[in-house]
Amino acid sequence: MIGVAILGCGVVGSGTVKMLMENRERINRAAGVEVVLKAILDKRPVEAPRGVLVTNNFDDILNDPEIGIIAEAMGGVGDAYDYTKRALEAGKSIITSNKELVSAHGDELEEIGSRMGVRYLYEGAAGGAIPIIRPINLCLGGNHFQQITGIVNGSTNYLLTRMEEQGISFPTALDEAKRLGYVEADPSADVEGHDARRKIAILAHEAFASRFDDHSKVPCEGISRVTQEDIRAAELFEGRIKLIARACMQGETWTGSVRPCFVPRGHSLYNIRDVFNAVQIHTDFAGETTIAGRGAGSMPTASAIVGDIIDAAKNPAAYPKGDFVPKFKEEKLVSRFVVRVDGSIPPELTGCELRRMSGVLAIRTSMMAEDELRWMLSDTRHGLLFPVL
Ligand code: HSE
Repeated sequence: MIGVAILGCGVVGSGTVKMLMENRERINRAAGVEVVLKAILDKRPVEAPRGVLVTNNFDDILNDPEIGIIAEAMGGVGDAYDYTKRALEAGKSIITSNKELVSAHGDELEEIGSRMGVRYLYEGAAGGAIPIIRPINLCLGGNHFQQITGIVNGSTNYLLTRMEEQGISFPTALDEAKRLGYVEADPSADVEGHDARRKIAILAHEAFASRFDDHSKVPCEGISRVTQEDIRAAELFEGRIKLIARACMQGETWTGSVRPCFVPRGHSLYNIRDVFNAVQIHTDFAGETTIAGRGAGSMPTASAIVGDIIDAAKNPAAYPKGDFVPKFKEEKLVSRFVVRVDGSIPPELTGCELRRMSGVLAIRTSMMAEDELRWMLSDTRHGLLFPVL
């Protein structure tokens, strides 16, 4: 038997309790050992299953020798960081979907887990229910990873989908989503791309062994400046605007970005709609692999957490990750671009593909450096520059 505790019984924690209780037999079979929910930490009154301790004292959990796995579902970096560190130092495995904490302190926490011989697992922190961390480490573990390209933020994908389908502006789509409770009351981390940036740093860590805290170096632009005209311009070239998080290995360094991009019809990310997430991976032996699914929500995130619980129950000891740590290097992007142009096309760009409809004029360039394109457009009113995937 292995005991499990859950820290925080909000959206993610309550989903995890539900799954542990409802799917108990299936989980025990997958783990090869009886997995028993023993305690829930929460300051609020919680309706817990019979026999499960509810406490607001973390020491009750830390001092219970039967609890070997703790799922942190509190969010934030305050108490969640403190409890995670203490749990790992006490020799208990930690499971989390808290991408803020993983990206900020994951380097230190993983090192503690390794030193203590316990697991620090975070499958739910990037891509929610999508199995992505474990496929990178295990199923594709023998490959060299070249590139990861993903839609890893559900809220922004939902907003862009609404803008496209309903012909509404970004502020209107955001107001509507707030009213329906589809985005956080403070949606800035999603809208400005910071959430996606944390997630791509986590995926890069898995694929390239880079540091989690490189996330703060990744250039990041969100979707708040995407206009309805930009979306129509993309349609003129049979494409869609999506918030794309990208990470590439380049020699001994890695590079990455989060920004709205042009996704052409036929690309594996083109049909990822609403709150869905998808990650496309390029490796040397497997080639291109795309994994898609639900990136957020109580039950999808619980699914990832319970998968990690099963893994930690089966394999309680951490495995070493190697010594090579590539540094982050900001890239000078060379790409094709789709851009909406107001007025006349600068002479340097007259050879580009040009499409026009209902007052929207857009160009698709050949491969060129972004700096060069910005210089060419410097005297022209234009929309955002969307790299073509
Ligand atoms: N706010 C996040 C999103 C939640 O919209 O993707 C899941 O990480």
